[in-house]
This record gives sequence, structure tokens and C-alpha cells, in this order.
Amino acid sequence: MESLPVIVESKLEMRKLSRYWKTKGNIIGFVPTMGYLHEGHLSLVRAARKRCDKLVVSIFVNPTQFGPREDLEKYPRDLDKDLALCARESVDVVFHPGESEMYPGGFQTYVTVQDISKPMCGVSRPTHFRGVATIVAKLFNMVEPHFAVFGEKDFQQLLVIRKMVEDLDMDIEIVPHPIVREPDGLAMSSRNVYLSAQERRQAVCLSQALTAAQDIFSKGERDAETIKAIARKNIQAMPLAKIDYVELRNASDLSMVDKIDCPCVLALAVFFEKARLIDNCILDPGSGRYNK
Ligand code: PAF
Repeated sequence: MESLPVIVESKLEMRKLSRYWKTKGNIIGFVPTMGYLHEGHLSLVRAARKRCDKLVVSIFVNPTQFGPREDLEKYPRDLDKDLALCARESVDVVFHPGESEMYPGGFQTYVTVQDISKPMCGVSRPTHFRGVATIVAKLFNMVEPHFAVFGEKDFQQLLVIRKMVEDLDMDIEIVPHPIVREPDGLAMSSRNVYLSAQERRQAVCLSQALTAAQDIFSKGERDAETIKAIARKNIQAMPLAKIDYVELRNASDLSMVDKIDCPCVLALAVFFEKARLIDNCILDPGSGRYNK
């Protein structure tokens, strides 16, 4: 039987341990999460495990990245199961700080990554990326990893973190990891548990929309509006799905494009009654790559 990972709740303990590991020449890998781990998280954990000596997974449901009418209170949590899963993946430390450890009274400093945070998810979640960048910066300061792994499902988040690391001269490598999907194509997400059985069946429209767009892209279509229209049509075919956005943007800075003449991201956000799901794929005319 695997032994449970060490649970660290104090930021000072976390930093002390990390610095001790470094004195022994260890490479420290980090996977930040909000818990309720699924196969998508575990694939990040496995990717990190392969490249480090000591692996830290953080579990912290970060209140500052939720809007006032969002699902902070009911966000799914299952620490015992998460610890068992981390044990199976040979995680060394689960960093599980409490809210007052992360945001003590009087907290007033936030990290804002300006332009990349504004479009797409930034429109319906205007304070989300400020919360994400702030907590990730804090976690980086506490864990002091050599590298951190982030999933490509949250593509905009990945760009926000990369930009923050670049602009604030953080000496941490950001390692992207591909989207992990259910057998029918739905991207794995902790929020998939909010879907009713009927919604779950219809939620496949996100990946179907991406596949339809990839199909016409692979046949030579380069017009952004035409590709977005195909994606929209697939989502609108499902009565329980309501589009938040369908966007096609430059994959390095999220600037708008009319024609795909550089690597671009086709990104979707779709509301169901209790869940808002996101997904994306890269359309790259240079390499002919159109991976999901
Ligand atoms: O992707 C997530 O789970 C969260 O946004 C993160 C990076 C752990 C910050 O709370």
C-alpha cells in the first residue's frame, strides 16, 4: 500500500522544506490545483513526477478567483480521495493551506496581467485572472519550485501565468500539458459533476464544435468568421447549451485575427444550467497542426 503524502498546511513550513530539498540538490516540481482531482489533474502530476525529485501538489480552493455569483461555496471538495490519489502518484507533499494562511486579515495586494486577462473568460469573469495570478504568485513564493505544470484546457490561464512569470522575472519554468478528455471527447473538469445526465450528453458539443472547425481548417479554410460559425452551429444544435463565447485568437497573445496565418487558438465557453464549461484547440497553419 502507498503511504500518504506529507500534508503541509503552513506556508513557512512549505518554504522551509523546499529550501531544505534544494540544499540537497533536488529538482522541485509543482502542480497547483483546487482539488477534487480527476484524470486531467493526474496527468499533470504524472508529467511533473517524471521530471523532478520532489513533487508538491497544492490543494486550495482560491476564493479570489470566483466572482460574487459563482460557485465558490459549492465547488466540489474531497480531500481524503485527493490524498489517496496523490499517494498513488507518489506525490511527496500536498500543500493544503487554510484560507487565513493565504489571505490573512488586511490582505490588499493583487497581481494583474493586463491585456491577456481581458478577452474571452475575462469578459464574463472580470476578476478571475487577477485572483488566479495572485494565488499562483503566492504559491510560487511559498513552494519555490523549479517548474510548474499547467493544463492547456485553461489556455488563457496558461498564457496569463506565463506572462506573469516573464514580466515579474520569476525563475520558474512553466510546463504546458495537453487536454485530457473523456472517451466521448468532453474535456475533463471538476465542474463536469454539475451536469445533469441530459446535459452531460449534450456537453459533447464543445469537442464536436472543435472537431468540426478542425475539419474545415485541415481542408484549407482560414477565415476566422467561417470557422467560428461552424463551431457555433455545433453548439447551438444542443438545446441545453448556451454560448458564452466562441473566439479565434492569436495563440501567443490572444490578439484578434481575421485570417489564420499564425498559430491560433479556437476557444469556447458554454453555459449549462449549473456549469460553465471551456475547451479549445490550436489551429496552426505553419505545421499543419490542429491538435485538440
Ligand atoms: O487551474 C486551477 O485549478 C486554478 O486556477 C489554480 C491554477 C490552481 C489557481 O487556483
